Amino acid sequence: MEIKSVNRSIIIDDMDKKIVHKTNSFYWDTAGNDFLKAIVLPFYGAFVSEEKHQLFGDVSGKKLLEVGCGNGQSLQYQAERNASELWAVDISERQIEKAAQHLNSLGVSAKLICSPMEEECGIPTDYFDYVYSIYAIGWTTDLEGTFCRISSYLKKDGVFIFSWSHPIHRCVTEDNGRFVFKKSYFDEDWYPVAVEGELLLADRKISTYVNALAKAGFVVEHMIEQTDDEIMQSRDNNSDMAKRAKMFPVTFVIKARKL
Ligand SMILES: C[S@@+](CC[C@H](N)C(=O)[O-])C[C@H]1O[C@@H](n2cnc3c(N)ncnc32)[C@H](O)[C@@H]1O
Repeated sequence: MEIKSVNRSIIIDDMDKKIVHKTNSFYWDTAGNDFLKAIVLPFYGAFVSEEKHQLFGDVSGKKLLEVGCGNGQSLQYQAERNASELWAVDISERQIEKAAQHLNSLGVSAKLICSPMEEECGIPTDYFDYVYSIYAIGWTTDLEGTFCRISSYLKKDGVFIFSWSHPIHRCVTEDNGRFVFKKSYFDEDWYPVAVEGELLLADRKISTYVNALAKAGFVVEHMIEQTDDEIMQSRDNNSDMAKRAKMFPVTFVIKARKL
């Protein structure tokens, strides 16, 4: 698919949304996690963990929904913490299948729905104590609409936690041992990424996320940008990713509450 067929704008029309969904669901149905390794709880990203930040607190007896569940390992994490009900949505039939197989093999029950997160798909409203998403929210073609939907799924005072690639990380490249800007931080256009297959991606500013949360009726309670020192020390801290994570945020995590 050629990028010129996608309107290079942050507001994309229905036709472009279909192209993004078709391209990205094909990727997750085929290449999946062969190249992009799964990022699952307790990790929010390569260098940030729930074990350190304790954003969820005690989820026992709580109803949880995961947006973009991938292979289901984060659902397993929540089941092990005695969540009372687990639901998840993902655009990829293959990822939903993998999640179902994984959870069945562990005897964990979860309601899994194959749908784009942007669309109405039978998820109950005013129902969940937590909605969370680990490296999936950024794939939405409609950030404000998705946050409004997520808000509708939550009970009043319900918590929404998500992690995603930090937009600064997406802007910076290494050139002869120095980090340099390869694109503008303000550029939110969709573009193709070649990772053993093609994905379509848009990098949104942090303010775009914060303003979309406010519009959907959330208050931000906590935001994480820093790399966990403990993880850095326990890993190969000369890897390309570690070099980046020492200098600037590669992941951000937001915890917000529905007012
Ligand atoms: C990077 S994975 C995140 C899941 C898991 N944490 C992992 O790392 O494997 C992204 C997931 O989002 C799903 N996804 C992409 N676009 C989506 C959309 N518009 N609606 C729902 N799910 C989507 C993909 O199918 C994939 O399973």
